[in-house]
Amino acid sequence: MPRNCTGAATSTEGGCGGRLHGSMIAEIENRLRHSLPSGLFEHVVATARAAAHLAEKCGTDPVAVTVAALLHDCCRHLPDDRLLNLAEEFCIVVNDVERDKPVLLHGAVGAEVARTEFRVSDGRVLDAIRYHTTGRSGMSPVEQVVYLADKLGPEKGGVPLRLEGADDLGAALLACVNQSLRRCIRDGLPIHPRSVEMRNWLLGARAGRERQGGRSLPQEG
Ligand SMILES: [Fe+2]
Ligand SMILES: [Fe+2]
Repeated sequence: MPRNCTGAATSTEGGCGGRLHGSMIAEIENRLRHSLPSGLFEHVVATARAAAHLAEKCGTDPVAVTVAALLHDCCRHLPDDRLLNLAEEFCIVVNDVERDKPVLLHGAVGAEVARTEFRVSDGRVLDAIRYHTTGRSGMSPVEQVVYLADKLGPEKGGVPLRLEGADDLGAALLACVNQSLRRCIRDGLPIHPRSVEMRNWLLGARAGRERQGGRSLPQEG
């Protein structure tokens, strides 16, 4: 794997670096079928299905969300020391929370593996993989859909979604991040700063809509 610390691990800020083709989906799924543990493979396929469903409701690019959802956990099965080594190879800046809990790096490492080994160059897809665990402030529509789809699985205690409009999407994201933060507090785990930033961003967006007289988001669950 290339060692180039001039920006390989930086966010693409939602930019689109290359073309996506629907034909990529079957090829990626086939590769993952042979490289992931079976339970994880079933999870990513279910996440891709949920993401495509959400994308249809939200008017988001279905190919982008499906490719991102298939690849979002391509490094989830790797042990902590392997994730830390790959993070170093890809010049990913590791913070204290991630060093304490390296599994949190599987998104950032996975994005680099998607770029280098699966030849994905679409920035929306790479960012959705990179931030699917923690979320972040200013998530793009593709990031939001993949984040939600990943949290909808029964093993995650997914929140119910109505998704009748932007407010409901924001409410669903807020419920998911609240649930994730509560779990960290309950289990005595550190909270990733990007998750706090995501929550503050969602609360700010809700307050902005309320100030403009838009329909209020439901109270956080
Ligand atoms: Fe994950
Ligand atoms: Fe996942």
